[in-house]
Amino acid sequence: MTQAQERIHHSGLRNKIMTAEQAAAFVQNGMLVGVSGFTGAGHPKVLPAAIAEKAKEEHAQGKPFAIGLISGASTAAECDGVLAEANALKFRSPYQSDSATRNHINKGNIAYHDAHLSHIEQQVRLGFYGAMDVAIIEVVGITAEGKLIPSMSIGTNNEWLKSAKKIILEINTVQPEKLEGMHDIINDIGTPPNRQPIMITDPNQRVGSAYLECDLDKIVAIVLTHANDRNSKFTEPDATSKLIAERMIDFFAYEVKQGRLPKNLLPLQSGVGNVANAVLTALQDSPFENLMGYTEVLQDGMLDLILSGKMKSASATALSFSPAALQRFNDNIDFLRSKIVLRPQELTNHPELIRRLGVISMNAMIEADIYGNVNSTHIMGTKMMNGIGGSGDFTRNASFSFFVTPSVAKNGTISCIVPMVSHHDHTEHDVMFVVTEQGLADLRGKSPRQRAKLMIENCAHPDYRDMLQDYYDRAEKAGGLHTPHLLMEALSWHQRFVDTGDMRVK
Ligand code: COA
Repeated sequence: MTQAQERIHHSGLRNKIMTAEQAAAFVQNGMLVGVSGFTGAGHPKVLPAAIAEKAKEEHAQGKPFAIGLISGASTAAECDGVLAEANALKFRSPYQSDSATRNHINKGNIAYHDAHLSHIEQQVRLGFYGAMDVAIIEVVGITAEGKLIPSMSIGTNNEWLKSAKKIILEINTVQPEKLEGMHDIINDIGTPPNRQPIMITDPNQRVGSAYLECDLDKIVAIVLTHANDRNSKFTEPDATSKLIAERMIDFFAYEVKQGRLPKNLLPLQSGVGNVANAVLTALQDSPFENLMGYTEVLQDGMLDLILSGKMKSASATALSFSPAALQRFNDNIDFLRSKIVLRPQELTNHPELIRRLGVISMNAMIEADIYGNVNSTHIMGTKMMNGIGGSGDFTRNASFSFFVTPSVAKNGTISCIVPMVSHHDHTEHDVMFVVTEQGLADLRGKSPRQRAKLMIENCAHPDYRDMLQDYYDRAEKAGGLHTPHLLMEALSWHQRFVDTGDMRVK
């Protein structure tokens, strides 16, 4: 028996082993397919390429072939990428960050439903997208009783295993068997009116099972793989990210002094991207001890806080590491098993838990306006970047909600603080703090006029500060009302960039 076959302890299921090409036969044109995968971790590695090949063959014969794809969150080039490049996707939800998929979405070839990650499982349960035909789920192994040992992410796997008519498993021998026991899964949290409270009062608490379960008769194929996750490299924090991080740490210290935060802060959620990671890196040298993580994706910065003893535990739904951090994770996995809990995203992102735990959310953004509205998804109001992901779940329910960004983008030709955001993801009602390398705006308890002053003075880049002040002054003079705006001018900065490549007036 090969090392891969040995991962299947349930002897009956070994008969289901086949090649990816054979398993791809279960996926037909027009089907809705649910895949595992969250932030480039735990997605299927070989089935998507086999489905893409099948699509190309069908297209070559003049036949249609395109599927709907739903995941936990982003996958990687070997999943989203190959399918998009083969024109094999007609629908995608709830989140992606792949360049080929992004191009097809923006051309209108893929209907993309950008959704809050905490919503997606229930929407599938209720059949918003139609019946799920096939689920393709990466696992680490199968126990003798037929329970599935989850991989580097849980995401929506628990729901897909229940909802799908047929299941294909990829057993990936790159993922360490020692992941067994790191997960905490409630397979069904119930659908209203039959939902019960989720009794988690501490990020490290375990309330469910370490395994995923499914009706074994639905498993139609098992494919053996040996392939890495996306494992993107993080760039070393640059001067801008370091400044943003410093401002946040100073602010945490101030809030502790004011008695609004405990000395070990509150459970930290950190979004995707280098700035978010820089904040966690900076916490390493901060005075705070016994930190806790309650986040969607556990990345390098949080791993290192746990390994150094600064963070006592963290709850997440995915482990997404650079190659070097993955090595540190594998080297310390026995220690980390008692420190890290991986849960379904329906729990990780659940408003009930985020509010109860009082999470501090820290997410990156594309732009904010002078009143504190935030755009996380659309470049110049129209081009989809990635999606809202879990940023809405966390921002709305956090007890401290931060958005971070450099004050300018594209060599200073774009101000990330604008008169009016060109797309709304997070409203002024949810956004408490905006932080750029220029400073921090504490928007709590402030009126729109008070917020505008703080955003312009504290967050805007000097190149744009006078322009923003001029816009605000003229809007106020023109009759202003509660939220002063000049509607004909509010999006003119974006239009100027589209027309000239620079938001600044020359
Ligand atoms: N206008 C136009 N483009 C802008 C911009 C702006 N105001 N601000 C940034 N950009 C561009 C950057 O230049 C960069 O372009 P490039 O890819 O051509 O280099 C790109 O947007 C990404 O910006 P970057 O500074 O590298 O940011 P990031 O990696 O920190 O990502 C988001 C920022 C907003 C795209 C990312 O955080 C995201 O997708 N967020 C939404 C989902 C989320 O928050 N998930 C976590 C939830 S738990």
